[in-house]
Amino acid sequence: MLERTEMQQVFPTPLWIVDLKPEAARAMNTRLMAEIGKLATPRPPVPKGTNWQTDPVIHKLPQFADFVSLVETAARGALRSLRLEKYQMFVTGCWANINPPGGVNSSHTHPNNFLSGVYYVSIPQGADRIEFLDPRPQASVMMPQPEEFNLLNGNSVTIEAKDGRLVLFPGWLVHQVPVNASASERVSIAFNLMFRQFGETAAAPLWKGRIPITLPK
Ligand SMILES: [Fe+2]
Repeated sequence: MLERTEMQQVFPTPLWIVDLKPEAARAMNTRLMAEIGKLATPRPPVPKGTNWQTDPVIHKLPQFADFVSLVETAARGALRSLRLEKYQMFVTGCWANINPPGGVNSSHTHPNNFLSGVYYVSIPQGADRIEFLDPRPQASVMMPQPEEFNLLNGNSVTIEAKDGRLVLFPGWLVHQVPVNASASERVSIAFNLMFRQFGETAAAPLWKGRIPITLPK
């Protein structure tokens, strides 16, 4: 009776994971930890349950130039998969995060940027997660209990955080970092990326009219 049935997944949300080779990760993280340590000395007091961040300008410091080029390389890969590689992106903000034991990052987005991401510098066991929440609020109105959760019936996705891993995602995607349940600090670097000259390059209308107009040269 049935010739064919098909389920399509429409409007998927991309998330990119880039892992450094172990030796490259070790070298990069040793250097980054030393630089973050210098920025974090003296350490300001951190109220319990919160976290510590630098100003979001470390991409402008020469000692983070290698890190910025890693971010830009990852972003170019993401743009390739979106077929947007003709546009140039740049880092608009970048900051180090230290979550002490008990520290969390509550749910948030990164407005005014096309891509956002995080790189993991030092992740203890018990602090090795980041959670992304379903950006479709209607989808959580009814959630019958499934036999098992999967991408089609859940409302959050957990990604493992580990040293040398970079995770990129759309800036609008809500995410949070669960409580650091370890006895050590969780250290990461977060960043935002936007198109260069967005208005001039990427924001033109996506459609053409029925009446063609030839613009004067
Ligand atoms: Fe974030």
